[in-house]
Amino acid sequence: MTRKGIILAGGSGTRLYPITMAVSKQLMPIYDKPMIFYPISTLMLAGIRDIAVITTPHDQAQFQHVLGDGSQWGLRFTWIVQDSPDGLAQAYLLAEDFLDGAPSAMVLGDNLFFGHGLTEILKSASVSDDNAVFGYQVRDPERYGVIGFNPDGTVAEITEKPSAPASNFAVTGLYFLNGDAPEKARTITPSARGELEIADLLALYLKEEALKVHKMGRGYAWLDTGTHASLLDAGNFARTLENRQGLQTGCLEEIAFEQDWITESELRDRAALFAKNAYGDYLLRLLD
Ligand code: TTP
Repeated sequence: MTRKGIILAGGSGTRLYPITMAVSKQLMPIYDKPMIFYPISTLMLAGIRDIAVITTPHDQAQFQHVLGDGSQWGLRFTWIVQDSPDGLAQAYLLAEDFLDGAPSAMVLGDNLFFGHGLTEILKSASVSDDNAVFGYQVRDPERYGVIGFNPDGTVAEITEKPSAPASNFAVTGLYFLNGDAPEKARTITPSARGELEIADLLALYLKEEALKVHKMGRGYAWLDTGTHASLLDAGNFARTLENRQGLQTGCLEEIAFEQDWITESELRDRAALFAKNAYGDYLLRLLD
């Protein structure tokens, strides 16, 4: 079955208050485009076109305004509401009908991935039958799901926001799971903080020795944008790359065009929408 995508873009965004009091975090700008373009680009690079976007009830209309039905990028969006932020693993319950037994790639709406060779990593995870997550070394692991390793290097446990982290490796917000994820998610119960924890879902796979943890090395950037400082850092990072290389990151039209999901004339139509700015110029240059 073809792998489907899920973008989890609900949540409360309280750490970004007051700027997220009226607008969803995942619609905040990362330099020149809305944050959610980046997780969409991650799924597109993995070759995924059928994508469920999970939002809060009150933010859904704004997301639809920005993203439409996805056909401008050769995608198909399905819209799902999460009534309250009851945890990352709840996404698999909400998306069960959409997935209809298919394997999935879920990405958190505030997670940005960059790096040479990222496309290959994503493509190979996407075509593989393995359940897979990615470990990334961070300075402040206690903010994330942390990987505990056995002496032989295999993964012993994944612990959500531990006060004494077992390593500096955090699990990134990108999960390739097989079609049994909704069924497994139904068996877990809310944690002390009242959430269906992704760490608890992953623990079920670990117990069955059915989870691969790939390390993303130092050539990759994994940014999350949940605080004011990290939001600005991510914007500066995108601007620095674009300014230096003249190349965009997270440009959905470019990825769609490269993959032959949109035609030249469709790309030209998109460029016309942004005729007054550098983003539109960039799209036109892709046609040369
Ligand atoms: P978090 O950063 O853990 O939470 P948040 O976005 O609600 O923000 P804050 O901590 O500032 O209140 O969420 C990570 C990502 O997952 C983010 O993109 C929002 C999303 N999310 C959901 O969509 N539903 C959920 O139930 C949770 C917990 C998070």
